[in-house]
Amino acid sequence: MDRDQLIDLTRRAVKLARDNTTDLAPSQRTVTADAYTSVERHAQDSAMLMASPQLVGYVSELPRPGTFCTKTVMGRSILLTRAADGLVRAFDNVCLHRQSRITDGCGSARRLACPYHSWTYDLTGNLAGLPGAEGFPETTTGDARLSEMPAAECAGFLWISLDRDRTLDIPAFLGPLAAELDSWGIGRWSPLGEKVLDCPINWKLAIDTFAENYHFATVHKTTFATIARSNCTVFDSFGPHHRLVFPLNGILDLENTPEHEWEPLQNMVVIYALFPNIVLSCTIANGELFRVYPGDVPGRSITVHQNSTPLDVSDESMAAGAAAVFDYAHSTVRDEDYALVEALQANLASGVREHLVFGRNEPGLHHRHETWEAAVKFGAGRR
Ligand code: FES
Ligand SMILES: [Fe+2]
Repeated sequence: MDRDQLIDLTRRAVKLARDNTTDLAPSQRTVTADAYTSVERHAQDSAMLMASPQLVGYVSELPRPGTFCTKTVMGRSILLTRAADGLVRAFDNVCLHRQSRITDGCGSARRLACPYHSWTYDLTGNLAGLPGAEGFPETTTGDARLSEMPAAECAGFLWISLDRDRTLDIPAFLGPLAAELDSWGIGRWSPLGEKVLDCPINWKLAIDTFAENYHFATVHKTTFATIARSNCTVFDSFGPHHRLVFPLNGILDLENTPEHEWEPLQNMVVIYALFPNIVLSCTIANGELFRVYPGDVPGRSITVHQNSTPLDVSDESMAAGAAAVFDYAHSTVRDEDYALVEALQANLASGVREHLVFGRNEPGLHHRHETWEAAVKFGAGRR
């Protein structure tokens, strides 16, 4: 984002804070409880995710040619590589022999050896060697390759399509957010690893927890609410995606400061909701990524939480500081948001009430659910 945009967002945030209000949706709305509990909707949701471009990590997870990383996406193990030609590729992390996972984690390698019988693969996906080759005459004479899927890097992030028949056009998918996300640089910051939450909540309920700050004063009374305002959000949508600006508590001090002295990023957290299952939380110090996936049943989901830092993590004390911030953010989501909505999910599943209510002050919830509903209604295949 350029400074003019940041100043404009800051002006809007200051005005909302001064007026003790928030951006509002045109009207209150309801969503049926079975959006979070029905098996049929769960299958439609899963199909929607399978058909959508998937942001799977930061480009800094493949920092140079000769590096690889692995991801679990919708229960599938994916191997991403940056081979000597510098290109990002994605493969099923499934050995051509007996389907072992070829590797875990991330690192540098010229070749990857399967841990079971040591078939080896180069980073372009070609089978490069196998011990006891006389046992596999049909494999060694063929052009054996790992199964590959479309992959791209854009806006500082790694993207794949689980549907290998689709072409990825991420600039078109992100629209104006492509340049905006890129400008943060968080995808090029140092990655701090992944933390996984496997929770008894629907995947949309997990994402809902990031879509408003109306709950800060209660759920995060002693944590986030000590730094950020509650029920005060600047909302903008960009096609199927949206952006929320959560002003920090000191934002009203800017009323007494000339605009040219404003440091907008010191006064806000910016949340991006990318269709259909990605949340980014950006500050000048942290680039958090939440990848949320439907689980095996409607009432279960997997959240993969990542964070990146602009700090120099080769310095031990900086690395420890960045890790501590990540631990704190993660435990807040786990112990405050997700712990609370576990009981909410149980209530939804009980069938006691047919609807949930989204207030006018929760425009992010409106937008997420309208977008999801449109996609499952008209078929995710159009995207
Ligand atoms: S399963 Fe990979 S080498 Fe046998
Ligand atoms: Fe929260």
